[in-house]
Amino acid sequence: MAIDSGVFRKIIGNFATGVTVVTTANDGFLHGLTANSVTSVSLDPLLLLVCVDKKAHAHTELERCSHFGVSILGADQVEVSNLFARPGEPEQGSLRGAAWHYGPGGTPLLDGALAWLECRLAERLAGGDHTIFIGEATGGEVTRPQAPPLLYFRGGYRGVAS
Ligand SMILES: Cc1cc2nc3c(=O)[nH]c(=O)nc-3n(C[C@H](O)[C@H](O)[C@H](O)COP(=O)(O)O)c2cc1C
Repeated sequence: MAIDSGVFRKIIGNFATGVTVVTTANDGFLHGLTANSVTSVSLDPLLLLVCVDKKAHAHTELERCSHFGVSILGADQVEVSNLFARPGEPEQGSLRGAAWHYGPGGTPLLDGALAWLECRLAERLAGGDHTIFIGEATGGEVTRPQAPPLLYFRGGYRGVAS
């Protein structure tokens, strides 16, 4: 049965995911993007991917960057997710007023995340109206091992049932 993009979104929305904020710093200008398309790709080397809309400001920033950060959000970070799900220009030394810090590798990371990764931009692949950015993890840490995750399912935020 042929389907359109609305039906496709509805179907794929049944695939529950976590929520991340993907961050970049280019010449001191910081940017973050709420993204649930982050997926682990490979263990040797350590690769992950994120699919980013070509129309997003984040796309321009990821095309320019050498490294990017991935902050995995907790259940208490809905506001952070909403903040970075709105279009916004990169800002000098600021991530839209959210609390952040530089990771050891020099990428900006969100305070309060469950876990984070710093990645070297390894490859860009064509993906229709998105680009698939592949990063090689250069560092990372689980910072809140007991805290529950923020989930996204059928177009809304959810928590883990148990
Ligand atoms: C839960 C959630 C997940 C999202 N995942 C993605 C994603 O994986 N890729 C993407 O390009 N946009 C994603 N978005 C939409 C972007 O966050 C949104 O378009 C943002 O405004 C882009 O900001 P920018 O133009 O400043 O980069 C997601 C939004 C939400 C709420």
